[in-house]
Order: sequence, then structure tokens, then C-alpha cells
Amino acid sequence: MLKEIIAQEISRGGPITFARYMELCLYHPRYGYYMAPQPRRGKGGDYYTSPTVSPLFGQMVARQLFQMGRWIGGEFQVVEVGGGEGYLAEDILGYLREREPGFYRRLIYLSVEVNPFMVALQRDRLKGFEGKVSWPRWEELEGIRGCILSNELLDSLPVHRVRAERGLKEIYVGLKDGEFFELLGEPSEEVEEYFRWLGLLPPEGCEAEAGLSALRWLKEAAERLSEGFIVIIDYGHRAETLLSELYPRGTLLAYRGHRTHTDFYSEPGLDDLTAHVNFTAIIRKAEELGLRVLGLTTQGRFLQALGIFEGLEGEGKLRERLQAKRLILPGGMGDTFKVLVLSKGTEAVELQGLR
Ligand SMILES: C[S@@+](CC[C@H](N)C(=O)[O-])C[C@H]1O[C@@H](n2cnc3c(N)ncnc32)[C@H](O)[C@@H]1O
Repeated sequence: MLKEIIAQEISRGGPITFARYMELCLYHPRYGYYMAPQPRRGKGGDYYTSPTVSPLFGQMVARQLFQMGRWIGGEFQVVEVGGGEGYLAEDILGYLREREPGFYRRLIYLSVEVNPFMVALQRDRLKGFEGKVSWPRWEELEGIRGCILSNELLDSLPVHRVRAERGLKEIYVGLKDGEFFELLGEPSEEVEEYFRWLGLLPPEGCEAEAGLSALRWLKEAAERLSEGFIVIIDYGHRAETLLSELYPRGTLLAYRGHRTHTDFYSEPGLDDLTAHVNFTAIIRKAEELGLRVLGLTTQGRFLQALGIFEGLEGEGKLRERLQAKRLILPGGMGDTFKVLVLSKGTEAVELQGLR
């Protein structure tokens, strides 16, 4: 069905950018991958995320939020964007209610999630936190004091794709005999401008992504934040790594049933499509927006600095220890995943997770 919808759009207006194709695959209101009623994470799903691996992840984020609370007096708002089924919210709220009741009392949790089915799951999962959580629309938020938080949001935003082939070319999606195919064309203006701004191109013959939606999201987040922090947890690297021969075909991958593949076109809407976040671009944009960059670290270092292994020494803690290891392991979630912390209107604070 989605295939026909996209085919019609191309038939009417000609080839579309990959970003437009990806937007329809993931966020078409009815058939988009992320708009589906069933959660796609966990054992029976397509991929794992840190909050589905262990509650320890959310507990460590909660510790970091508690420390941030020192710099923001009065009500502290946590705005989680793209919370999916609500595991992270549950773990953060559960931990703070039990361990930091004073901070918990002045906390309010605002969950922004585009998929109405996920919102329904969150409402159910979080009903024990009645009165603490609400579900506003992103556009409604302004003057946030506290922390805007996202885990694996930016990697799921649409990307443009380019190839360096005697100059910079953009990859477009065309239609022939009812099937999609890729074609190279002159880059759209915003893509050309992006690479000029970044000051780096992929090596000749290589492909790369341009995450313009992620930059737009950051700008909106910076505008909505009046005082406090932005925490972005996601997988990605710096530009020099991404735009190198290490990634000759870029980082875009399709996920289904815990397997990855690169056939992006045969069944649109049924695969998760994700690309690594370019943290150089995010940091540069943050600086332009007047945000302070408090630090970029790996998930492994962040969780260890916050004490993920504390209290896990005993005999009965083997399962938790293994889960914690999975979250911090180099070569997996521990180092491909990064934690970027930005701030606005606060002094240059030293956060425990960035130590
Ligand atoms: C890869 S999932 C991550 C879910 C969750 N954070 C986790 O770690 O398990 C991305 C989530 O972001 C949501 N999402 C995507 N774009 C969004 C946006 N602009 N605003 C709010 N939520 C969004 C999707 O519906 C999906 O639930």
C-alpha cells in the first residue's frame, strides 16, 4: 500500500530525495514504520534499545537528572522526545521516587511521542505515576526549565544521501516499471549548503548521509528550552569517521527481525531505516544556536561514571551484571552509542556522567 502511495508521488512530481522517501517509509501517518500499532523493539521485534536491555540504563540517566536538578531551582521538567513504549520514563520515575523523593516532588515529566499507539502504551505503563506525566505536542512546548532528553530519536529522522562522484551528487529515488531505483543528480540546495557548512565531503566514490532533520530538531529544542540541558543519546561518530573510507556506502541500514540489510525499496514501511548521527554536525549547530557543549562521551563511559556497577558485586546480581556489561561493552552499545550533553543559561557545570 505504501509502495503505491510513494509510486504515485514520484509519478506525479518526478524523483524524490531519499529523505522524502525515508520520511514516508517511517512516518506516513497510516503506513509508516514508526506509526504502527505494535512495538518493534525487544526480543520478538526488529532491534533492541538500551532501555529494553536493562532498567539500569534509566536509573543512571535518573542519577544524572538528579544532579542537574542542583542548577535549576523550583519545578524541573524532563521532556523526553520519542520515548517509544515508555521504558525509560518508567525507570527514571521509579528510581527518583524511591531514591530522591525531594527531587521527585518538584519533577514533572513531559513525554512527546508522535505515534499515538506508543502514547497509549506509555499511558498504561506509567499509570502508577499519575499526575507526574503528561503527553503534550512538541509544538506546544516553550520555556522549558529542566532537561530535554532523547534516546535513539535522531537516528530515526530522515536523511539525505549523497555520493562523491566527480563532485557531490545526491541520491534520488525514481520509479521504473513499478519499481523504485536510485539515481544520481545535482544535490538539492540545502544538501550542498550542508556540506559546505561542514567543510568535508565523502572520499571519491563513497556515499554518506546528511541528517538535516536532526539539525532542525536541535534548533527547535534549543528554542523551546529556556534554561537547562539537552541530552542526546544515540549511535554515531564524528564527521571525520563517517565521511571516510570506513563507511564507503554510508551508514544507512534497514532492520527487520534483528537482521540488517540494504534493500531499502522492496517493502517500504516494513523495515526500520536508521543512519548514524553525525555528532560533529550536531555540536557545530549547537554552538551556532548559542548552546554550551558540556561534553560528548561514549555510553559506556557515561554509565560507568554514574556508577552502573555499584551494588552489583554480590552473588545474586549476575543477571544485572551481564545486562550492565551489555550496555557498556566496547564494539557494541558501549562505544558506538554516544551521549552528548548541551546546556543553556547555566554556568559551565561539571556533570558526573561526563567525568
Ligand atoms: C528508535 S525509537 C526509540 C524509542 C525509545 N526512545 C527507546 O529507546 O526504546 C524512536 C521513537 O521516536 C519516535 N519519534 C520519531 N520522531 C519523533 C518526533 N519528531 N517527535 C517525537 N517522537 C518521535 C518514534 O515514534 C519512536 O517511538
